Amino acid sequence: MKLTVIGGGSTYTPELIDGFARLSAVLPIDELWLVDRDPERLALVAGISRRMFAAAGHPGRIVATTDLVAGASDADTVLIQLRVGGQAARLGDETFPHACGCIGQETTGPGGFAKALRTIPVVLDVAETVRRHAKPGAWIVDFTNPVGIITRALLNEGHRAVGLCNVAIGFQRRFAALLGVDHRAVALDHVGLNHLSWERGVRVQTAGGSIDRLPELIGTRLDALAEEVELPGQLIDMLGAVPSYYLRYYYAHDTVLAEQRVEQPRALAVMEVERALLEVYADESVHSKPAQLEKRGGAFYSEAAVDLIASLQSDRGDAQVVNLANNGTLPFLPDDHVIEVPATVHGDGLRALPVAALPPDIAGLISGVAGYERLALDAAIHGGRDRVLRAMMAHPLVLQFERAEKLTDLLLADNRDHLAWA
Ligand code: G6P
Ligand code: MN
Repeated sequence: MKLTVIGGGSTYTPELIDGFARLSAVLPIDELWLVDRDPERLALVAGISRRMFAAAGHPGRIVATTDLVAGASDADTVLIQLRVGGQAARLGDETFPHACGCIGQETTGPGGFAKALRTIPVVLDVAETVRRHAKPGAWIVDFTNPVGIITRALLNEGHRAVGLCNVAIGFQRRFAALLGVDHRAVALDHVGLNHLSWERGVRVQTAGGSIDRLPELIGTRLDALAEEVELPGQLIDMLGAVPSYYLRYYYAHDTVLAEQRVEQPRALAVMEVERALLEVYADESVHSKPAQLEKRGGAFYSEAAVDLIASLQSDRGDAQVVNLANNGTLPFLPDDHVIEVPATVHGDGLRALPVAALPPDIAGLISGVAGYERLALDAAIHGGRDRVLRAMMAHPLVLQFERAEKLTDLLLADNRDHLAWA
């Protein structure tokens, strides 16, 4: 199999390599192509990647290239993990909303919208090249944020795409540890949109079926759950569900904003981690994933990717949490909206598992954010200040017209170099 990683020069890549090396029996790779626009970074990342494969006895060949067509040609699967504008643009996303009393975040709220506007045209261009040059039927696995909107952009253009995030696999591992069971025995009732999700059940496989142990966790380990997502235990108890930590930007908006006003933005911390990582990658005596990589948010990314690609390639039909078209799963959303739920993964595609009816508060928030996401995609594709303003105002964290206008002007001023139409 030829697997191609677009944005392969990312400092995250050794996380993927670690999973590919450990799990080569599940996912055999003959050729791994790393494609990136930055040749220097790519060379460093490809160097440590090759040393990691060699140390693990992985027979796969790693090819590094700046040529997208060469990378896409005859690929069986293409992973997209790019970041338009790098950490510098992220720093803008994390700070410009503060002037309007809004949290700044790379995937949520006005910052996430800016990222969507910058990124969607680039990802769609890449996907066209994939369509022309990859093997017919090749899958695109999208890691690029904001994953929900980007996956929908790809599906709307007829690409064979699925979106992936590590929030669910992170919860699966955490719940398994709290319960003292093997993570493979744990299936989540995960529901929502990407970075707007709730865990409503933690089903643990037993000899006679499965038992939902979330009520027990809420009853006995509420403090641990609350600490995990940095939200009050009382809130988890009231919902009977564990919100992901991205819901902190909603349920604790003003607290987060106050923290952000005094703390260092995440982009600056990540720049520092990346500088240190690249130094380690340049050291030819290093043959394994450096510990510093754990300072990034990508825990278990590689395992989620291996599980998903292996099931797509070999038609395993197991259930995994992915981003895919709604098609009636959440009856209050359009069929073509992209949602994040467990689905069985087959060679010919993904089938969402049924979701129990949602309570009005959760359904309402999902609907509100989905409305914003649809307007955001429209703005990213067609451009124009009016479309940006309309999507901005639709976001539940914005809502007020004057605030939306001011945020729109800040966003456009900050991102002019990255928007062809601005
Ligand atoms: C988690 C999220 C990703 C996000 C990452 C940020 O893994 O699921 O979507 O990209 O955190 O991590 P970083 O180290 O860049 O802050
Ligand atoms: Mn994510």
